[in-house]
Amino acid sequence: MSTTHNPTTPADHSPPDSSALVPITVRPTPLMVRGAGSWLWDAEGKRYLDFVQGWAVNCLGHCPQIVQRALAEQAATLLNASPAYHTLPQLRLARELTAHTGFDQAFFCSSGAEANEAAIKLARKWGQLQRNGASEIITTHGSFHGRTLATMAASGKPGFDALFPPAVPGFVKVPFGDAAAVERAIHAGTVAVMVEPIQGEAGVVVPPPGYLQALRALTQAHGVLLILDEVQTGMGRSGRLLAAEHAGVLADICTLGKGIGGGVPLAALLARKQVSCFAPGDQGGTFAGHPLTTAVGLAVLRALLAPGFLQQVCNAGEQLREGLLRVGNAYGATEVRGQGLLWALSLPSPCARAVVDAALQHGLLLNAPQPATLRFMPALDVSAQEIEQMLERLGRALSDVLAA
Ligand SMILES: Cc1ncc(COP(=O)(O)O)c(C=O)c1O
Repeated sequence: MSTTHNPTTPADHSPPDSSALVPITVRPTPLMVRGAGSWLWDAEGKRYLDFVQGWAVNCLGHCPQIVQRALAEQAATLLNASPAYHTLPQLRLARELTAHTGFDQAFFCSSGAEANEAAIKLARKWGQLQRNGASEIITTHGSFHGRTLATMAASGKPGFDALFPPAVPGFVKVPFGDAAAVERAIHAGTVAVMVEPIQGEAGVVVPPPGYLQALRALTQAHGVLLILDEVQTGMGRSGRLLAAEHAGVLADICTLGKGIGGGVPLAALLARKQVSCFAPGDQGGTFAGHPLTTAVGLAVLRALLAPGFLQQVCNAGEQLREGLLRVGNAYGATEVRGQGLLWALSLPSPCARAVVDAALQHGLLLNAPQPATLRFMPALDVSAQEIEQMLERLGRALSDVLAA
């Protein structure tokens, strides 16, 4: 791949002036101006191997041609008709997504939090209609479901419950991976259990084998809904279209985000027909099912379902897992967790932020979801050579921090 660059701003060495922006996160100084596949370029022409990919969003890498083409064709045909009218991209995406996942209906929106908010509303409405007004949802410690008020209350991220009081009521938390704790928490007022198949933001926490099957069985036995938040694990990230497929589980409601739009803001709620009880007016949004984003979603879905694509995700994941063990071992980082192309490496001390900073210097973009955890979420079509390049740069970053 070429290392030449075409910055959109003149190269200068001063950090970008972000004083006019609300500081929602701490950003490193490089100004990113261009992306292609697994690579990003900053305004000074330095190129970075990107294993963050928009927090697992760019499932086909930066600026993939199929996304460019879908956007250009749809923008030239029908940019926006409003959710008040039928449009082809939305109808087609709903048809193909439900056909390939086993659900019956889809609602499209723009972010994972919005999809989860819709899932919470749908469960509560179902509780009014089918379970004597039951409304409580069981979620798990460490979970992350979004940043709206209700999805923050649903989340088990430490510290979230103290922010922005009063918290939205109606959520109870149990330890992740413990199906018996879920069963003990169910009572007449419970309407649903909501979990991630693998907790992403908590640091790629994989539940014990049989967990999802046990949740499916006990929710059915108690007549409550199973909601799976597949915002991070869905759309091929785990090596299957949905991570729940590994367990052979079909939830009542599933939410998707991140990868579904291949880089554009698209998310979805999928529901089985027995629980899909929204009436017109209950749920919506100005950008719900937008033609541009759903046209891209359709192109992305078809790319993921192309013969051999998901098998290649599994193969690349295995190469990444083995490589992380090999490189991590040399520095006492012995725990590697994950599935498909979502992996975490546990570090021997809380120095993940320092490793991320060192990796940036070596032209590698990584993420630290927890103080002692690095997360790897490359493009799903990352090449074997790029994985090896990443491991080599990771080794240098670990050496900088841990050998020092
Ligand atoms: C499992 C899960 N659910 C929900 C969300 C929220 O998605 P968004 O940031 O698009 O609102 C995230 C984001 O990281 C997530 O990982």
